[in-house]
Parts: sequence; C-alpha cells; structure tokens
Amino acid sequence: MNAELQIGSDGAKSQSAWTEHWADERQQSISQRFFSFYRKAVFARTVSYFTSRYFPTQGVFVEAGSGTAETSIRIDKCGGARKLIATDIVQPVLKRCHPVMDSRVCGDIFNMPYADDSVDGIWNVGVMEHFTHEQIDMIMTEFHRILKPGHRIILLWPGADSLPQKMLRFVEFIVNSRGKKEKFSFHPPEISQLKSRKEGHEVLRRNGFRSTHIEYGWRSLMAFKTLVAVKDEN
Ligand SMILES: C[S@@+](CC[C@H](N)C(=O)[O-])C[C@H]1O[C@@H](n2cnc3c(N)ncnc32)[C@H](O)[C@@H]1O
Repeated sequence: MNAELQIGSDGAKSQSAWTEHWADERQQSISQRFFSFYRKAVFARTVSYFTSRYFPTQGVFVEAGSGTAETSIRIDKCGGARKLIATDIVQPVLKRCHPVMDSRVCGDIFNMPYADDSVDGIWNVGVMEHFTHEQIDMIMTEFHRILKPGHRIILLWPGADSLPQKMLRFVEFIVNSRGKKEKFSFHPPEISQLKSRKEGHEVLRRNGFRSTHIEYGWRSLMAFKTLVAVKDEN
C-alpha cells in the first residue's frame, strides 16, 4: 500500500505547518513532552475503549492523520489479527511513529491511498477540527469510499466546550500578550471544533454515515467528543 503523496485542497501551506509542528527540535519542548505523555496516559485509553468496542476483532484499520500514533498504543491487536496502518501527510513523523502500528503510509486524507471498500475501520484523534466543513466533507467522502460496508469510523473531535482546549487557548493568549511579532500556538488552528452533538450527527448523516454513538467527552477528560458511525450496507 505505498502511497504517492498528493496534497489535499488544504494545500502546501498546511503541510508545511504540520511539518514544522512535528520538527524534531520542537518535540524537546516541555509542552510537547507533556502532550506526548498525555496522549499515552489519557487519549490512548479512550481510543482503546472505542476501538475494542466498535471495531471487528480482525482486519485492516487505518489511523487517518496519525502523527506519532501515540494515542494508538493501547489498541488491542487481538493477537495480530488486527493490522494497524498509520497514515499521515508528514513523512518525518511517520519515521517516529509508535511500533504498535504495523505499517506507515505517507498519504493525504483528501486522497487516501487505499482501494474502494478495502478497510475494516478508520479512526483519528484531533484531526477533523483543523479543516473547514467543506474540507471535512471531502475527507469524509474519502473515508466512505475506502471503508467496507457495515464497518465503522471513530473520530475523536474536540468540542467547542472542551475545557482543556480553552486552557490551551488561554496560555497562548498570555504568551502572545507579551507582544512578540511571531504568534505562539501549540498547534495549527482548530477552525471547526464540534459545536454540539447535533452537529456531529449532521456531519455524519450528510456524508452517508449512520451515527451509532456520540460520547460527550468524559472518557478523554473533556478534551474530545467521540463520534462512532457506520457505513450502511446497501
Ligand atoms: C493534531 S495532529 C493529531 C495527530 C495524532 N492523532 C495525535 O493525537 O498526536 C493532526 C495530524 O493530521 C496530519 N494531517 C494534517 N493534514 C493532513 C492531510 N491532508 N493528510 C494526512 N494527514 C494530515 C498532521 O500531520 C498531524 O499529524
């Protein structure tokens, strides 16, 4: 499943922002080390819970926008029957990807390097909110194309009411109030945080998915709402 890298409608600007985000030197900062710890300690448990509950016990599963895949380290691989593929647009981060992933594919979520109806499950953590709704629909169309009928997507998506995200924005505000020219931010802008569970249902419905579960956020200590949806068999 080797991918020929193609950049989505988001363009090269977005790719360079993510390349900068994952630059080696940046990973040494206290904030990035804390995020790495938090991904493994908290979000990995959320991902483990939902993948165990909603993904089949065997097959090929794609993390779409995996980064280092640290939030996947607790996924039960069912003795090797579940094969996990990390997919990200930034090649260097895939080199640092956690070994829990069976393979790493550099690819664009707007143009996923997988055949139609070929994948048993798709998940991601903290990806969808970085795109406009028009782009989200394009990404969801790709998810729908590659997912086998009757199988599920699991999306961890920060809500507009997310307390941890509000705290991060407050810290950014304090740092930026010192008046430095270059604006500080922990990661590229989250332009489409989920406004409500109703909005989650609507995004899934308009892209051909039937939502089976939207969790309020307790399992990620209020950082993410978790959307689970199935591609119906027609
Ligand atoms: C906020 S990070 C989340 C990464 C990981 N899930 C985590 O929790 O650390 C968003 C990820 O999406 C990736 N990404 C952004 N645009 C992408 C695209 N068009 N195709 C594939 N991956 C993309 C970024 O490189 C980044 O690794």
